[in-house]
This record gives sequence, C-alpha cells and structure tokens, in this order.
Amino acid sequence: MQPKIVPSVLPADYARLGEDCQALEAAGVDRIQWDAMDGMFVPNLTFGPDVIAACRRVCDVAFEAHLMCERPEELLPRYAEAGCELTIVHPETLRQPHWTYAHIRELGMRTGVALSPGTPLDVIEHCLDLVDLILVMTVNPGFGGQSYLATMEPKIAQARAMIAASGYDIELEVDGGIGPDTIGGPAAAGADVFVSGSALWRYPSFAEGVADLRARAIAAAP
Ligand code: DX5
Repeated sequence: MQPKIVPSVLPADYARLGEDCQALEAAGVDRIQWDAMDGMFVPNLTFGPDVIAACRRVCDVAFEAHLMCERPEELLPRYAEAGCELTIVHPETLRQPHWTYAHIRELGMRTGVALSPGTPLDVIEHCLDLVDLILVMTVNPGFGGQSYLATMEPKIAQARAMIAASGYDIELEVDGGIGPDTIGGPAAAGADVFVSGSALWRYPSFAEGVADLRARAIAAAP
C-alpha cells in the first residue's frame, strides 16, 4: 500500500487555518489531522469541533480528529457533524473502550485507537474487529516539536504483526517527531500512515515536504 502522509495542523498559523488546509490539500496530503486537546488529559488546549467544521467548508481533503481529551465519548457526535471521517481516541480516557469504538462507527466515522508510549498493545487485542486504525504515538501526547522516540519501533513492528495475524484491514499510523531523518525507522517497522507537524512546516513548501516524506517512507518500507 502507498504510504499516507497526514499533516497535523498543530503548527499551523491559527489566523489562517483555512488557507493552510487548502495549501495542504493542494500539496497532495492524504488526510489532515486535528489534534484536539482539552487541557486535562494533556497539559495543552487546542481546537474543537467548531473550528474543524469551519475548515471543513473550505477544502475537500479527509479530516481525522485525534482526541486527547477526557470523556471523549461525550463529544463524538460533534466531530462527526464537523466532518471528520476518522476519529482517534486514547483508551486511557475511556470508561467503556469496546462500546466507544463501536459507537464511533455507528456515528458514521472510522475508529482509530492511539497508544501513548507507555500504553501496551494488548489493551486493544480483543477489539480489533472494531478498529480501523492503530496510532502508535512516538512522543508523549500534548505538544508538537518533540523528539522522536525510536524505542517505539519494536512496538510498531508488534502492531504490524498483530494486524497481519488478525486479518482485519487496519491502518498503522505513527505520530510524533516524524520528519526526513526519522520516518525511515517506523516505515521499516511496518507503519503505513505518517503524521508530521513541525517537520513538514520546515520544508520550503508543503508539496516538497509531502513528496520527500512519501519517497523516504517508500524507500524504507519492508
Ligand atoms: C502530540 C501531537 C503531535 C503532532 C505532531 O500530541 O499529536 O505529535 O500531531 O507533532 P510533530 O510532528 O511536530 O511532532
């Protein structure tokens, strides 16, 4: 499968979010990721469904919401209404994970499960029938611009093996410190979706960054 490049708009110019979404779409990104943070699950506060809905009106590229929030199940309908086709939740924030994963699909979205560096893979081994994407975090959630944790590469490989053994069609995404110097490791370990924020914004253009990151992921893929 062609690796997917998914920018996080965490580093975007929040005074020009719509224009940045249009520029990312023109650059050929596969989806746009919205890091929704509530200041409780992580010590940071970002955007909610109304901001996402506003940007939904100005571009067509798919949106995914990465909910770093306590009790995310209470807001799930809002992210569906805002136009997210995929919503990613952290199991540590869920009172009933199995129910929540099914509920995301009932709302018409695909289900993603994010595993922080300290969260083991086995928390989702009995829910793979309800999961469309596994996100192995390669930083601790809360902020962009952190350093990539190469110690997560064995976990990425284990996730790839779990997906292969399950027979389910599940994307394997990585997020955190992904850039030209780090994307090769997770790609070689079996990741096929790559979230990049600050590194993508450092390229001379989004198009150059998307093309370079995609080429590096293809070159390193097993
Ligand atoms: C952490 C965020 C970041 C963001 C990407 O909670 O999820 O990982 O998406 O940030 P960079 O690419 O700057 O590490």
